Amino acid sequence: MSDTDGRNKGEAFEAFDDIPLNTHLETTIGGVLMQRYGRRAAIRSLLAVTAATALFGTLPENTRAYGTDAPESRFRFAETASGTDAHHHLAEGHEAQVLLRWGDPVFADAAAFNPYNQSMESQLTQFGYNNDFIGFVPLDETGNRALLCINHEFTNEEVMFPGVGVQHVKDFAGMTAELAGIEMAAHGGTIIEVALRAGVWQPVLTSRLNRRITPVSTEMSADGPAAGHSRLKTSADPSGRRIIGTLNNCAGGITPWGTYLMAEENFHGYFWTDRKDQDGRRLRKGLGGDQQKSYERYGVPGNWYNWGRYHKRFNVDHEPNEPNRFGWVVEVDPFDPGSTPVKHTALGRFRHEGAECVLSKAGRAVIYMGDDARFDYLYRFVSSQSVTPDNRAANMTLLDEGTLSVARFDADGTMTWLPLRFGEGPLTPENGFESQADVVIDARLAADVLGATPMDRPEDVQPNAVNGRVYVMLTNNRKRTTDQINAANPRANNWLGHIIELTPPGGDHEALTYTWDILVKCGNPSIAGVGALWNPRTSAEGWFAAPDNCVADGEGRLWIATDQGKNWKRTGRADGLYGLETEGELRGHSKLFFRCPVGAELCGPCFAPDDETLFVAVQHPGTDGTHHFKGFERQSTFEDPATRWPDFDPRMPPRPAVLAIRKRGGGKIGT
Ligand code: FEO
Ligand code: CA
Ligand code: CA
Ligand code: CA
Repeated sequence: MSDTDGRNKGEAFEAFDDIPLNTHLETTIGGVLMQRYGRRAAIRSLLAVTAATALFGTLPENTRAYGTDAPESRFRFAETASGTDAHHHLAEGHEAQVLLRWGDPVFADAAAFNPYNQSMESQLTQFGYNNDFIGFVPLDETGNRALLCINHEFTNEEVMFPGVGVQHVKDFAGMTAELAGIEMAAHGGTIIEVALRAGVWQPVLTSRLNRRITPVSTEMSADGPAAGHSRLKTSADPSGRRIIGTLNNCAGGITPWGTYLMAEENFHGYFWTDRKDQDGRRLRKGLGGDQQKSYERYGVPGNWYNWGRYHKRFNVDHEPNEPNRFGWVVEVDPFDPGSTPVKHTALGRFRHEGAECVLSKAGRAVIYMGDDARFDYLYRFVSSQSVTPDNRAANMTLLDEGTLSVARFDADGTMTWLPLRFGEGPLTPENGFESQADVVIDARLAADVLGATPMDRPEDVQPNAVNGRVYVMLTNNRKRTTDQINAANPRANNWLGHIIELTPPGGDHEALTYTWDILVKCGNPSIAGVGALWNPRTSAEGWFAAPDNCVADGEGRLWIATDQGKNWKRTGRADGLYGLETEGELRGHSKLFFRCPVGAELCGPCFAPDDETLFVAVQHPGTDGTHHFKGFERQSTFEDPATRWPDFDPRMPPRPAVLAIRKRGGGKIGT
């Protein structure tokens, strides 16, 4: 953790995952695996020796082989080169404009950004830190005026604040109440109007719709089964329905009725205890009282930030229920800057990576969600009611009631959704669930007893409206051992990740059973021992590792953003954005479109409706793995960063930023 050694925040996030919290691992070896091997053997006998076996050495497991013909790629761009340096790189014929950086004004009267004299008040008027999800909500029929809804996931103290350097890792040395206030104001989200004028996107600072949402300034309400429950009550909120703010907003979604979903991911990290062990480390276990099982399963308290030193609500010694008020999906109406965001408890409490919405054939809202932790699960929510066209107010309450389910993957290529319903199956008082409120607050524990399949860190889960399928990013899981592999997570020590494709039968997103296949297994295909699976036409630049965010453009082409953390040193390539073919002979063919500056991950890929602009969020530039950045080889600080991207101004630290990418001369991206 950040109070124990010299890692930066992003590396500490990764390190936290070294402690798998799901100790309830399904028995996955044995029958299940053998069945799947049986399927593989059947495929092998059908295909005999193909070009794929020649290229891969062995036939790829658990998936169909890829062809080697040369049909035309739908990604019609020349790849940029893989590698790592201080700059970003982009496929030829495109250009990237820096649209919004940390500290840029969100309002016409915002304070000018001065990183040497920042305050909570100024930060509340400025673009936050570590931009992640980007949602695009058009304001007119041309799509040339829009609201961008952007999450700010977390903060990196050592490169944000002068003088903090690396010493803050020693129990938050130098992290004052004032700096904690700035951090809080730099979290959350930004809603900002943007306009395309003469081929250039610009923020519209005078828009009345612009808004900052933060953990310190935005009051929220709760609905659904846990709203008002005793486990959501605190001394400041005896109603259990009025929550200040949102935390660690990673990916998210835009609903068909034009609202902004913010997923609360690593919320546990913001909770803190004053109690320490004999070595002076803050305790992380044994503090839950009668909620001990829940605390442990969720990793509360994480002690990643010292806000609890200054704000009692983040201190579990004082407010043991406050952590139950985070870890939800929040819905925001971007058209009303005075509206109260709602935490929809029906969607369950876990480390929500994202919340992508699609309508079922019956018009119900279906939301796909990953719980981003090693050995955690894939979830789906289906609303009880259907969308009412032209009744936005009715749609705004759609997510308060519905069925939350968790996925079990079987070796026969099917996947079953197991509903999390109190009173059904094992979800009873004998197993610790007294009500549906308990089921959603402790969704992880409920999913454990239902026998869900433990996955390799489910990140973004992306429905593709064009082909009707759903793509699950499984970023990595170094902790999976050979006796823990299962059909859907087939690699031990899976530090490279893979992508699963789900097929709802007949495109029915309410179906209880889907089929599934592995689309790619990540890593370098030229090294046999890696066990990668790509279309053999993928170039040496085009393969990737650690898929994280994903978007489908208007043609249904899939774009994958990666987050390797410090593992970029092992793949030799910075994180970036890749076009990944899903159809026909080129299925599994990946091409590198954009590459981040050193130490950054790529988030939030988002297309304007005409596919002529691609917005991307470059997160935490100059931080991850800089010890391994040739010629630099140390941890970045505000004064001495590995890159000063994107300003390259000696007075400016690196700044997370949203880029607007367009094709020179116009036209669809990547064509
Ligand atoms: Fe915030 Fe799972 O990435
Ligand atoms: Ca992510
Ligand atoms: Ca997505
Ligand atoms: Ca990630």
